[in-house]
Amino acid sequence: MYKTVYIHTFGCQMNVHDSEKMLGILEKQGYTPTDTPEKADLIIFNTCSIRQKAEQKFYSELGRIKSCKKKRPGLRIAVAGCIARQEGGNIFRRAPHVDFVFGPQNLHILAGLCEGGVDAVSISDNPNIAAENLPVRRNDGVKAWVTVMYGCNNFCSYCVVPFARGREGSRPSGNIYEEVSELAVKGYREITLLGQNVNSYAGDTDFTGLLKKLDRVSGIERIRFVTSHPKDLSYDLIHAMRDLPKVCEHIHLPLQSGSSAVLDRMNRKYTYEDYREKVSYLREEVPGIAITSDIIAGFPCETDDDHLLTVKALKEIEFDGIFAFKFSPRPFTKAARMPGHLPDSVKSMRLYEILEIQDEITLSKNKSLVGTIQEILIEGESETDCHKLCGRTRSNKIITVQKTEGLTKGALVKVRMNKARKHSLEGEPVQE
Ligand code: 5AD
Ligand code: SF4
Repeated sequence: MYKTVYIHTFGCQMNVHDSEKMLGILEKQGYTPTDTPEKADLIIFNTCSIRQKAEQKFYSELGRIKSCKKKRPGLRIAVAGCIARQEGGNIFRRAPHVDFVFGPQNLHILAGLCEGGVDAVSISDNPNIAAENLPVRRNDGVKAWVTVMYGCNNFCSYCVVPFARGREGSRPSGNIYEEVSELAVKGYREITLLGQNVNSYAGDTDFTGLLKKLDRVSGIERIRFVTSHPKDLSYDLIHAMRDLPKVCEHIHLPLQSGSSAVLDRMNRKYTYEDYREKVSYLREEVPGIAITSDIIAGFPCETDDDHLLTVKALKEIEFDGIFAFKFSPRPFTKAARMPGHLPDSVKSMRLYEILEIQDEITLSKNKSLVGTIQEILIEGESETDCHKLCGRTRSNKIITVQKTEGLTKGALVKVRMNKARKHSLEGEPVQE
C-alpha cells in the first residue's frame, strides 16, 4: 500500500540529518515523503530541547496536529529527537494522540514499522548505532552531512544534550570513508562531518586521522566539520587544517563566555586565555581562517563585569560571526539548579549588546574581503533574488553572483568580492 510520511524537524543540523536518515529507513518500508501533514499516514516530530523556546514551539505544533488525527483515524504520530529521549512516556500524558516515541540513538526502530509495529517508547542508549550504516535520503546533490559520532560526554553545566542524545559513540572510519566515497560517486562535492564534539571522535583513529583519510576521496572538493570543543582542539588538528587541501578554512569554536569564572561554572574546562591562545595559533597556521562561535548571555550569577569580559572578548577576537542566546534553564542540568538566575530583562539587555557589537565586527570582517578573489562552490539560486546564484567561500561566507550561462549548482568558480553586507557578500566571476 502507498504510504506517506511528513517529518517536522526542529533544531540543529544533527536533527536535520537524523530526519534524512529516518526518511532513508522509511523509504525502504515503502513510505514516500509529503510536504502536507494533512495528507500523511505518519507524522514524525523530530524535536529539539536545547532551549525552552524550541520545546514550546514543538508542543504548540503537537497540539495543532491533534485535529488531523480526528479527521484521519489511521494516522500515526511519532515524537523523535531530543525531547523524546528526555521525556519518554511522559509525552503520552501531555499528548495522548501520540502513538510512539523514540530517541536520537533509536532511529533503527523505524525499520520494524510495517511488520508488527514498534514499541511505544524507545529511548535507551544504543552504542550499536555507531556501527550501523543507516540509509539516508538526501536531496541536495552537492553538499552532504555525514555523522561521525553520536552523543556527548561533556556535561557542560547548562546543556541538555548529554541527557537528550546519550553517551558518545564514534562510527568506524572505514564506514565513514565508504559513505563519503559513495557520495563522491553520486556527484557530491562537499561534506560536513557531524558530531556534538567532533574533536573527541574516537573510532579506530582520532579525528585528525579521519580527516587525513577522507581528504583522499577523489571527487570531494571540500570537507567541513561541526562542532569543535576548544578543550579538545589539538595542535595536530590545527596542522591538519593547515596541510590537508580539502579541509576548509573555517572552524566553529563555541566560546560561550569571555569570563574564565563563568567558563568554570559552565564546566567548559578551558579559560579565556587558553581559548585565545588556540585562536592565535589557528590564525597563524591557517591563513584566512574564519572563526565563528556561540555565546550564552546571562548565565546564573553572571555579573556586569563577567558580561563586560565577554564584550571585551568579542572585540579582541573579532569572530567572523556568532550565534548568541539568552541562558535558558534546562531539565536535568546543573546550571538549572544553580543559585543566581538573572531576570529576563538583564539577559535580554546583555544579548542585545552582544549582538550589536558582533554585527559591526561581522560587517567589517566581510568588508575586509572586498577586492579579494575567493573560490566559491555554487549551491543554487539565491533565496531572495531569482536572477542570482548563491554559494560559499571555503571560509563559509555566503556569496551571491549574477546568473550567467554555464554557471550551475555544484560549480567551483573564482569570484571577485565587490560588495559586503552583514550576512553575505556580492561578487562576480573572474576568468582564470
Ligand atoms: N541556554 C542557552 N543556550 C544554550 N546552548 C546550549 N544550551 C543552552 C542553554 N541552556 C547554546 C550553546 C551551544 C549552542 C548549540 O546552544 O551556546 O554552543
Ligand atoms: Fe552541550 Fe557541551 Fe556537549 Fe556541546 S560539548 S553538546 S555544549 S554538553
